[in-house]
Formats: sequence, structure tokens, C-alpha cells
Amino acid sequence: MAQYFTLIESPHNRHMLRVAFATCPQLQQAFALPEVCRPVKGEVVLNQNFIGVKGSFSAIHFDKDGLQAFLYAIFGRKRFIISPHDAHEKLLPFTQFSGCALQNFTDYDRQVFLTWTGGEEVILQPGEAIYFPPFAWHFADYLDDCWALNLRFRRKNSITALLNCAFPDGNCQALGRLLLSPALTPERERDILTELARLTRRPFRDGRLKTRYIRRRIAGLLQDRDGGPGREGLAWNFEDHIPSPIGEYLDWSDARRPRFR
Ligand SMILES: [Fe+2]
Repeated sequence: MAQYFTLIESPHNRHMLRVAFATCPQLQQAFALPEVCRPVKGEVVLNQNFIGVKGSFSAIHFDKDGLQAFLYAIFGRKRFIISPHDAHEKLLPFTQFSGCALQNFTDYDRQVFLTWTGGEEVILQPGEAIYFPPFAWHFADYLDDCWALNLRFRRKNSITALLNCAFPDGNCQALGRLLLSPALTPERERDILTELARLTRRPFRDGRLKTRYIRRRIAGLLQDRDGGPGREGLAWNFEDHIPSPIGEYLDWSDARRPRFR
């Protein structure tokens, strides 16, 4: 933390840097982890601190780890905007990112955008916490110099299986939501997991072909995807129009890629 604050002394660095670091044992003694955030054997659950200076931001995205989380503000005010899943195409999605640079909007334009997308804005005061739903589109900006603690919940095994198979794009997000839905029947869940296991195991000579094949198959598993308001003139799913540079040209199935645990 001392190194960070030394670096940001320069006005040129101020808005460039935010850091995340795991909670150290000394800090951990200051609070008890909620039961849902305690890892089981073999699992990695993130318990991280985010530090950034006033004016920093995280552009609209969803987190590919598919975890629920609590975010607790230790000091400084932080603004969060969370958008509903059915606003997907209004956010101009491309992989796990949005084409809307909300950080550049005026206050008025941001409010109009929130009304149009159905998003919710909250300003987290020091000492307050919010709950983050899994795979939710979100944006954050720092109204002060901020330090926040992010406590992520344990992940369902079905989501871990999905993440280790699928490229993090809108289809992965939608299938993740389906796997977490209370309306999902055990039979459908079993069928999806069987297919994910088959896709993960299936050998291919070219990993890029495997990546493309998996993306197609995952799109096929989404029979009732809530695709959002695609009929609106200003709503576009960029993924339908721009080939993803990672999914198309890189081998996402590469066994050397770090695995979710
Ligand atoms: Fe995030």
C-alpha cells in the first residue's frame, strides 16, 4: 500500500492505477469471514482489497469468475452501477465488456442511460457493504480515494465446470445464469454438465477449432436465453457482428491456461 501511494504522488500516475491484493493475515484478524465465503478444501476463494484514487473507474463489465460477493467500503465513497441482465444488448456487449464508456458520460447522460437500461446506481459510504450478484454487469468509479474489501462466495461446482470449458462471453454468462437459476430442473442441469464434460474431454488437433466448436455448442445449449431488447435501434450484441479475437484466433481450450478451482 505504501508503494502504491508513493507511485500515485505523481499527477501523471494518479488515474492510471488501481491495485488489488489478497488480505494479509494481520488484516484478516480484524474481521471474521462470513460462512459463505470460507473456502472448502482445494478451492480458491478470493478475499481481496481494492485500492484506488479519486477519479479511478472500472468500465462496465461482468466478472468471468461467476461468483457472488460482498463488497465492503473501508474508506472513501465508491459509486456502483449494476445493470439487469435483460439490458445485455443495450450495453453493446463484446466478450465480458461493454461498448459503453460510462466513465465519460455527464451526470445527466448517465441518468438517462440508467433509465434506458434499467440500471441501479448506489454510492457506497465507508462502513457500508453491497451484495454482488453473479455474472452481473457492473461499473464502479471512485468518488474519493477508496479502500474496499471484496469477499467472494464459494462457487457452485457446476459453474466451475462451465468456466473451465467456456470462453468468457455473453453465452458463458447466460449459461452460468441458467445453471444458477432456481427454475433449472435437475435433469436439465445434468444434461448441461454432461455436455460440458464431453466438450472439455473431446480431443481436437487444432485448439482454435476446439474453441470455436465449444462456443457453438454452448450457444446451442441456450434454448431460452433472455437475449434482451435486440429490436431496439441502439441495442446491439457486438459479438454477433465482430469475431472475438481471443475465441477465434487463440486456443481457449489450451491445457496450460490457469484453471478455476
Ligand atoms: Fe468486476
